[in-house]
Amino acid sequence: MAAMLLVMGACTSNSSQNNQNVNENTEKKEKPQAVEGRKNFGSSHALVTTPQPCVMIATWDKDHNPDVMMAAWAGQLDYTKIVISLSKHKTTDNLAETGAFTVSFADERTVAQSDYFGLVSGNDVPDKVAKVGFTVTPSPNVDAPIINEYPLTLECKVVSFEDGMLIGEVVNQSADESILTDGKVDLAKLKPIVFDAAGMCYRALGDSVGQAWGAGKKYQ
Ligand SMILES: Cc1cc2nc3c(=O)[nH]c(=O)nc-3n(C[C@H](O)[C@H](O)[C@H](O)COP(=O)(O)O)c2cc1C
Repeated sequence: MAAMLLVMGACTSNSSQNNQNVNENTEKKEKPQAVEGRKNFGSSHALVTTPQPCVMIATWDKDHNPDVMMAAWAGQLDYTKIVISLSKHKTTDNLAETGAFTVSFADERTVAQSDYFGLVSGNDVPDKVAKVGFTVTPSPNVDAPIINEYPLTLECKVVSFEDGMLIGEVVNQSADESILTDGKVDLAKLKPIVFDAAGMCYRALGDSVGQAWGAGKKYQ
């Protein structure tokens, strides 16, 4: 924004200088202007968008062995679609074969197992799910395994996988009774963890601190 304002400011003076300023800004993309009064980090590889969810993507491999990986670059795209940024993994090979996957949420009880699923590839350890003592149930809706030890799971069909962006259609969601209160998913019981990209660690969530579409009403 500061760079944009500088370019806009230059626009009021002289047009050949403007072009020069615009070009300089384009060419120096990797060295942005500092924001006054703040520590500047630039747009490096270690970009901090935090907190991020810790989603666990489970697939069948070609021999029908379950595989699962951790992904933190994930989000909800619309009411029934999710998007996950994926590099090449055993998981992406599996997705190309089956066109389906499940997504579960790492929680405080499964920090070590979930991190292990992000450290080790099923290409190197084909039984990585069994190795931590986890078990699976075949999804009745898509061609993918549900990891029993994760209490909340989305069953998804692949919509597309282009430029490293996996888009999935959620065809069903199920939850273990143990994380429900009055029939609804209760995050205080699920205890999901988030990935802290600044601290390079996992964090627990805290208490509810305000009603959504409600806390701001006092300013209306
Ligand atoms: C905290 C954390 C977050 C990760 N997020 C992603 C991600 O969003 N996208 C991705 O492609 N890989 C991500 N990974 C790496 C994969 O989980 C890892 O390469 C995994 O071993 C792949 O397993 P697979 O080869 O069995 O599919 C992450 C790993 C960790 C520890």
